[in-house]
Amino acid sequence: MPLDVEKVRRDFPILNTVTNGKPLVYLDSAATSQKPRQVINAVSKHYRKNNANIHRGIYKLAEEATAQYIKSKEIVAKFIGTEGYRSIIYFRSTTEAINAVARAWGDVNVGKGDHILITEMEHHSNIVPWQMLAKRKGAILDYAKLSEGKFIDHQDFISKLALKPKMVAFTHVSNVLGTINMAKEMTKLAHEAGAAVLIDAAQSVPHMPVDVRDIDADFFAFSGHKMLGPSGIGVLYGQEEVLEGMEPFHGGGDMIRSVDFQESTWNELPWKFEAGTQNIEGAIGLAAAVKYLKKLGMENVREHEKALTRYALEKLGQAGVTTYGPGIEDIERRAGVISFSMKGAHAHDIAQVLDSEGVAIRSGHHCAMPLVTKVLGEPAVPRMSFYIYNTQAEIDTAVAALGKVREVLKIGA
Ligand SMILES: Cc1ncc(COP(=O)(O)O)c(C=O)c1O
Repeated sequence: MPLDVEKVRRDFPILNTVTNGKPLVYLDSAATSQKPRQVINAVSKHYRKNNANIHRGIYKLAEEATAQYIKSKEIVAKFIGTEGYRSIIYFRSTTEAINAVARAWGDVNVGKGDHILITEMEHHSNIVPWQMLAKRKGAILDYAKLSEGKFIDHQDFISKLALKPKMVAFTHVSNVLGTINMAKEMTKLAHEAGAAVLIDAAQSVPHMPVDVRDIDADFFAFSGHKMLGPSGIGVLYGQEEVLEGMEPFHGGGDMIRSVDFQESTWNELPWKFEAGTQNIEGAIGLAAAVKYLKKLGMENVREHEKALTRYALEKLGQAGVTTYGPGIEDIERRAGVISFSMKGAHAHDIAQVLDSEGVAIRSGHHCAMPLVTKVLGEPAVPRMSFYIYNTQAEIDTAVAALGKVREVLKIGA
């Protein structure tokens, strides 16, 4: 096995939890990941020994906190294949990062009648900000269709690019289907059509090697809490020259160079985008999370999840449930997120019975209502998702619990 999972598991105190009288089987890491003691300790140490506001103090403690905050950005930059802290902006989450681009980039670059292209497999956080921008500006929001409910339809994507969108925004990995999109190829095509590109990397950066320079999109957005880090810290990576050309998103302290009664001038990158006191402990925790993942090796993380996904697809197939997204034959384009359905059982009932067996999965539209309700044609689907601490034995427990769902709901196999 690419990872020593038992060793990894010892780092996650929450995995010792007993829930409903059963050992916790946590299969909801696509919603949020659990945190290792290295991250918990880093945040706690910051509060115990290093807490001070950044940028402002002339004393040693504040200077050290500022240095650690900047160091966190450097660590994150390296992790995604780039260098220096200028292109790393901290927001609250992927959601806030995308909203920032839709406002700070979109308001300047998108006008009446312009097209914005997204896809049918987006999370609400990569739909709604573009809908709002389109409404503000009188622009047109287009969707690249899916083929067989799995992959972005290449021909449809090309035909929508012919409309010369100003922005192409798509998810790297679907949080419902597990599909891994061809980010580099799609970015190249979008750039050739004259568009800027934003990649929602919320489900890719935590789970596989991602090289932002190689993919070459203008923006990447991802969340600390899905990659072992604290909540309330998200990353916007932007190419420096694109960020330079943008207006700030929030106004307030620290993002300015000077303020007069009527006018202000802006600070340099990345501070121009970070108004007010930042989530300093979040940045410290995120750096610890990245260090942890780096030590495991992102290739190993991906291989571990691929093995689990293959195993789970096999077992779920044998259990007679329908799984969505790419199958085992396309495992190279499949991440560790599996939505499924069982004939005769509502998604919430499935999740509830699994919970009674200690198995935590998500059920609903997964903040991707157009995909789940319109493309898959389901009101809701249960979803299991994997991370570095999950085991085949846990998948066995989950699949066995599906047998209990049949028993409780009196459904035949
Ligand atoms: C693909 C995708 N994009 C965006 C988000 C939003 O992330 P956050 O809630 O951290 O902003 C999620 C969260 O589930 C996601 O899965």
